[in-house]
Amino acid sequence: MTGRFVLKIGDHLESAETKKYYVERNFFEVAPRYDFITRALSFGRDAAWKRTLISLLPSYESPVCVDLACGTGDIAFLLAGKYPHGCIAGVDITEPMLNIARDRNNHPNVSFANQDMASLDIVSESVDIVTGGYALRNAPDLGTAIDEISRVLKPCGVGAFLDFSKPGGKIPQKIEYWGLRTWTGLWGTLLHRNHEVYSYIAESLQRFPDRRQLRDIFRNKGFSVVDSRLFFGGVTELLMVQKLRHASENSAPAEHDISFQQRSVATTC
Ligand SMILES: C[S@@+](CC[C@H](N)C(=O)[O-])C[C@H]1O[C@@H](n2cnc3c(N)ncnc32)[C@H](O)[C@@H]1O
Repeated sequence: MTGRFVLKIGDHLESAETKKYYVERNFFEVAPRYDFITRALSFGRDAAWKRTLISLLPSYESPVCVDLACGTGDIAFLLAGKYPHGCIAGVDITEPMLNIARDRNNHPNVSFANQDMASLDIVSESVDIVTGGYALRNAPDLGTAIDEISRVLKPCGVGAFLDFSKPGGKIPQKIEYWGLRTWTGLWGTLLHRNHEVYSYIAESLQRFPDRRQLRDIFRNKGFSVVDSRLFFGGVTELLMVQKLRHASENSAPAEHDISFQQRSVATTC
């Protein structure tokens, strides 16, 4: 891509097709600065959150892992550290992000591929663990992406997702939205002379389900929610889910589960 990033967010987030187009262009622009900006926007906490995600995953000997929207490869590399005998694939749609991941890769059991999380070229029920750092919020269509996660995961397979997260009430949502817009807009102006480049985070979060709704979507699609960690008072969340053995099983919602009792990932489900 050449020239300045000029796409307007508001024109692109309402349909799956235009969102995918916008997001890919956005990350094309952001790729060379992605690692720096991720640290800056998270006050340096992003790496620790990703390590926490990995630490909560089960201790399999040689799992098949897929890291959705892998970007520059952070989570894929951490998976390789935890599972040296595992098989790890990172998928993403933005070539410049994938190229950075490939350049950084010195793990023989990690590979990267250009794939859309909404239509994965992966055999059904072949994957033990699906991860995603800031992935689901970027999905062209969230329901389709979760269906794909469900399709590729083995029964009892685990999903672990780190992302910006939305509280339930209108006022906390507004405060978070304006806080994020201001903080991300500042960095967009500093690095790209365009406040919209990172304001995409606030805009996409505004259209994303809140914490409870996200859990309900997973449950309705045949998952149980097994763990959750909130960071920065809930601005980001680590959500861990497990695919039920039979999709028809009902995962009863835990009562008002923002503070639900933590469960550990079961080896059977
Ligand atoms: C915020 S970055 C996250 C990168 C990395 N997972 C991390 O935690 O640092 C979001 C990534 O999602 C990718 N992405 C957006 N839409 C996608 C899609 N439909 N399928 C796969 N990847 C997608 C973008 O290209 C970008 O690399």
